[in-house]
Amino acid sequence: MSIDIAVVPVAGHGTRLLPATKSQPKEMLPVGRKPVVQYVAEELSAAQIRRVLFVTGARKSAIENHFDEDQSLVEYLRESGREEELAELEFDRNKVDYFYTRQSRQLGLGHAVLCARPLVGNQPFAVALGDSIIGLHAQSTIMSRMLEEYDRTGADVIVAVEEVPPQDVKKYGIIEPAGPIGNRIDIRRLVEKPAVNEAPSNLAIVGRYVFSPRIFDELALTKPGRGGEIQLTDAMQRVLEQGGKGVAMRLLPGEKRFDIGNFGSYFRAFFDFAISDPKYGESLRAHARKVLDREG
Ligand code: UTP
Repeated sequence: MSIDIAVVPVAGHGTRLLPATKSQPKEMLPVGRKPVVQYVAEELSAAQIRRVLFVTGARKSAIENHFDEDQSLVEYLRESGREEELAELEFDRNKVDYFYTRQSRQLGLGHAVLCARPLVGNQPFAVALGDSIIGLHAQSTIMSRMLEEYDRTGADVIVAVEEVPPQDVKKYGIIEPAGPIGNRIDIRRLVEKPAVNEAPSNLAIVGRYVFSPRIFDELALTKPGRGGEIQLTDAMQRVLEQGGKGVAMRLLPGEKRFDIGNFGSYFRAFFDFAISDPKYGESLRAHARKVLDREG
């Protein structure tokens, strides 16, 4: 059976985006017209995922509210004939079921994924980070390609990767390829946040994963690593050490990655989405040109 369940970790503190994230989840920050996590849910829905399990935490109830039907708002819009706005509230509500569990202590991404175990059980599943968008307006097929790879090979660990500048490898999980570097790469080894001179490549893992349930056994055994957190990369590496198969799928040239984790990348993401907005993009581009000309 094809994978139809995805885990979306959204429990992090978002400290790099304070004060914006003091009482609001970073995954709910708008990028253009929609909150980040809505793009993630739409990407998963387009890849035929039908069950999305959010791993949430304190101060994250806005996410639950966002994916719940607001009957009084729907009635209000219907009664006042606001069909356009009404359509904006229909995002995939009929196709996807949403579920929630809590990560009470932020012990890292690996721990957040482990929190999903009682609900996912003994089946393969996808993971998509709730703070990164793949492709402008989430137009990407990376998750579908990863799920097809699972159907074809049953690999235990499938990750999305992209090349990053050498000075940035220390911010990511990095793969060591076991063969030629095409759009699909066999993985020999994984390292979390290596120093430049220790990095086995500059192919960085970018927030999309497909796992066989073997990952749960290794996560349960994984001790806190870098930063005192239970690292997902460490558990993936252990799956490979136990003989599991690992595959990396490269983002295609059109699949730009928008990471919302810090203000620099958040501002760029918002700008890119806003200048490509079907209604306001054109005039915003003209405005930006005018402002920059004045400065230059
Ligand atoms: P990050 O490490 O970028 O998120 O995790 P963070 O911890 O919120 O960031 P800072 O450093 O404090 O600014 C990537 C994704 O994993 C989730 C986050 O919510 C984010 O969507 N995450 C991270 C968890 O769910 N639990 C954790 O313990 C850590």
